[in-house]
Amino acid sequence: MSNMKYTVACNWKMLPADIVVAKKTIAFHKKLATEFPSVQIISLLPSMLVGQFTQKTGKLLYGSQDISDSLEGAFTGENSAALLKTLGGQFSIVGHSERRDRHQESNSFISKKAVAVLSVGLTPIICFGETARDEQGKYIDELERQLLEPLEAIEETKLTKVLLAYEPVWAIGKNAKRPITTDELFSTLILIKKILTTRYGKDKADKVKILYGGSVKGTNAKELVAVPGVAGFLVGGATHSKEDIKAIVQACK
Ligand code: PGA
Repeated sequence: MSNMKYTVACNWKMLPADIVVAKKTIAFHKKLATEFPSVQIISLLPSMLVGQFTQKTGKLLYGSQDISDSLEGAFTGENSAALLKTLGGQFSIVGHSERRDRHQESNSFISKKAVAVLSVGLTPIICFGETARDEQGKYIDELERQLLEPLEAIEETKLTKVLLAYEPVWAIGKNAKRPITTDELFSTLILIKKILTTRYGKDKADKVKILYGGSVKGTNAKELVAVPGVAGFLVGGATHSKEDIKAIVQACK
């Protein structure tokens, strides 16, 4: 992975509530994408903004934060991967912990969503990660299920078309207990690789890109990106801070 291009995927979440501010944020992300072409920068927009911002100009890539498991039909309030593609989006998060929690999304449902995204040639960013850690290591079961079950419906040949995002819930957002340490991240990435290798074999497992997400900031991006196995970041809150997002992209260049 030595010549690998790092990814910085910016999860806007449901922010901002003001279109003027949103326009400023997108302009800044576009500027960063031009300034740092060696980094793959993705803006994962609130669905209301997808059509407005996804014109194919410049180097910035776009996506959505969730997607329907169906491509079209009578599904009120849902968003289609086929339409996302038509609008110029290339990625969609599936299985974010906030959706698993608030909408009780199951691993098998998340798997269907990932298949829908792949079926139109786009890239699913599949999130997984334990809710809490315990000293007995029981959390490893949860981690393994969240990792493997969403991949179940995906053909093995398409495994490398997926981006994985390891996001331990205890380290995410404003309610984060504390940031992950580099040692914890390193050992967890080894565990994730081992689980993938056992299931898919070393060749395929080695090719899967794993992003890290959870309280990534300008201040810790450099040490986190240096952890072997990290292919980039899924960034939440720092998406909306010019200073933070620039420092994160700089750390990945
Ligand atoms: P955070 O969120 O960077 O604000 O912790 C990450 C995410 O939820 O994707």
